[in-house]
Amino acid sequence: MKTALITGITGQDGSYLADFLLYLGYEVHGVVRRSSSINTKRIDHSFGRLHLHHADLTDSASLVSVLAKVHPDEVYNLGAQSHVRVSYDVPGFTHEATGLGAFRLLESLRTLGLTPRVYQAGSSEMFGGNEHSCCEFLSEECRFHPRSPYACAKVFAHHCAVNYREAYGMHVSNGILFNHESPRRGETFVTRKITRYVAEVFYNRADGPLKLGNLEAKRDWGYAPEYVCGMWRMLQQDRPGDYILATGETHSVREFLELAFQEIGEDYRAHITRDERLLRPAEVNTLLGDYSLAENTFGWRPMTHFAGLVKKMVQAELEDYERGLEEVWRFYHKD
Ligand code: NAP
Ligand code: GDD
Repeated sequence: MKTALITGITGQDGSYLADFLLYLGYEVHGVVRRSSSINTKRIDHSFGRLHLHHADLTDSASLVSVLAKVHPDEVYNLGAQSHVRVSYDVPGFTHEATGLGAFRLLESLRTLGLTPRVYQAGSSEMFGGNEHSCCEFLSEECRFHPRSPYACAKVFAHHCAVNYREAYGMHVSNGILFNHESPRRGETFVTRKITRYVAEVFYNRADGPLKLGNLEAKRDWGYAPEYVCGMWRMLQQDRPGDYILATGETHSVREFLELAFQEIGEDYRAHITRDERLLRPAEVNTLLGDYSLAENTFGWRPMTHFAGLVKKMVQAELEDYERGLEEVWRFYHKD
């Protein structure tokens, strides 16, 4: 039985990766940070099968302690302050957790003399958008041009991973993942914000119009469970490397809105308003990726495309909402 350690196990990707590794028969350990309220809802269904440890990417001592205890075969560094807009509000913390956190993890492994395979969660944000590249599709060869504190931190983490690989021969791979979404997506990312609102409209619970920022931004949106399989496949290669996972299609926020509202037979234009506060000081206008290296090296390719993703997310949201309403109804009709 292999042992894996996941930082960021309570997040969207960490929770799907934990499900997948448990399914494969791994012993799965996860790093959770102390929070004043319980935030483990994405992993509660597997609680008894997971080994959870308190630690924080901003605290080297806590990382050393967990790594020394677990002796993992594989480490997936998914922990991060991952919200691009918020990284402008908390740039210092973003650099600590998202950038230096990766360095602390690698350096802890090195000083402990541990040699697991390591996955570093890189991002398409590091490219700053197709407008900063000479290629139609962004590939592993394209130059980075980070346009937020979050993206700067991810570029730093990426280079640390390459350096530990080259300098110390560690088996460290960088995944450069384009946006991937799911019903477990955080509620302040634009896809989930929209699908939640669509369910509120459907059940007549919407409280005023949906406030959004830039509707013209385009993203290469895939389905998260498929991307965590790609992370695992990356680490099964004899040689570490850097790989893009993407769909090879790009769509605007406006297109996402159109399709999501179509699912409930409504026109999005009647339900939204623009909020300048949601604009970013520097925007990444378009992301479109080339996943051919991953496909040719380990056979990964996306299965869910844009329309299917929107449908899945809206349907899950409607089911979730209905379940919630049923619970409330049962609570008030106990007798
Ligand atoms: P997410 O839902 O925001 O989850 C982030 C996770 O990191 C959470 O478990 C969070 O814990 C944890 N975390 C935050 N600060 C931490 C700290 N100081 N120490 C330890 N853990 C900390 O993100 P995601 O969408 O699953 O993404 C996973 C990783 O892939 C992230 O590194 C993200 O930047 C990267 N990525 C994501 C995408 C995407 O489209 N989803 C694309 C490219 C790259 P709490 O639950 O306590 O907040
Ligand atoms: N969050 C949000 N909220 N974004 C909005 C809104 C809004 O109300 N209105 C418009 N947008 C636009 C943003 O300006 C951005 O261009 C686009 O919608 C997507 O925003 P997010 O869903 O917040 O995701 P992101 O692309 O900035 O970042 C995500 O993907 C990266 C990979 O490219 C995150 O998961 C990052 O962690 C990840 O690295």
